[in-house]
Amino acid sequence: MLIVKRIDEFNEAKSKLKGTIGFIPTMGALHDGHLSLIRKSIEENEFTIVSIFVNPTQFLQGEDLKSYPRREEADTRICDLAGVDILFIPAVKQMYGDDELSIGAPARRGYILDGAKRAGHFDGMLQIVMKLLNLANPTKAYFGKKDTQQLLLISQMVDSYFMDVEIMPCEIIREPSGLAMSSRNLYLNQEQKDRALALSKSLQKATQMVLSHEMDAKYIIEEMNKILIGVDSIEYIAITDRGLKQIESVVVGNTVILVAAWVGQTRLIDNIWI
Ligand code: PAF
Repeated sequence: MLIVKRIDEFNEAKSKLKGTIGFIPTMGALHDGHLSLIRKSIEENEFTIVSIFVNPTQFLQGEDLKSYPRREEADTRICDLAGVDILFIPAVKQMYGDDELSIGAPARRGYILDGAKRAGHFDGMLQIVMKLLNLANPTKAYFGKKDTQQLLLISQMVDSYFMDVEIMPCEIIREPSGLAMSSRNLYLNQEQKDRALALSKSLQKATQMVLSHEMDAKYIIEEMNKILIGVDSIEYIAITDRGLKQIESVVVGNTVILVAAWVGQTRLIDNIWI
């Protein structure tokens, strides 16, 4: 595996890859969720590129940019063992100049749900994903459904800017307990991890209700609220279509149920596509 830190090195390494390229952009602290994206890319492409970059522009003032877990050595080993061809780990100065143009997330989809409390987060996320996709120029890029809003916004950006890459949505990977894997789970102690299970349990409850033909969104949300009693605060529970429009009734095949909640100082999100 080639590890590159500078853009010129990256471009040179990339120019030697003749064949299809799968790309997985990450912020590091890799877990089995990331590994599942890497494996899928290796299966589906001749070459796989992973980037690790904790992107400052997607963190708001007061968020966890400084404390975000950084595990370069372990991440490098994981990528190498998994069979990644190029690992790109740029410094902030490689990725940003001092007077950057910005990309704005769409006014509705970018400022609801996670974008409501984290206004501007998706602008920064799209800005870096645009840069990384332009650099890696992959055939396919892999993103987890855990960040459904992110995934949908990236797909929208790729369509709107006629970018030549296939966005591959990948299933959420869960711990045996049901907790959705996330780098931020590293912030949780055991007691908090136990309480965090309320998120996946509330989604299981919603799924069971739908399986029993209960489609009323308001009622499902009420029942989910009861299960989420153990978290410190609920930021939102939402039932939307696959375009993130709130809906009154679940439509199987075109619904996402999403939840965001705080456990201690950690903000957790989870969702299920119905
Ligand atoms: O999901 C993430 O890890 C980040 O938001 C991403 C897509 C790598 C952009 O920084």
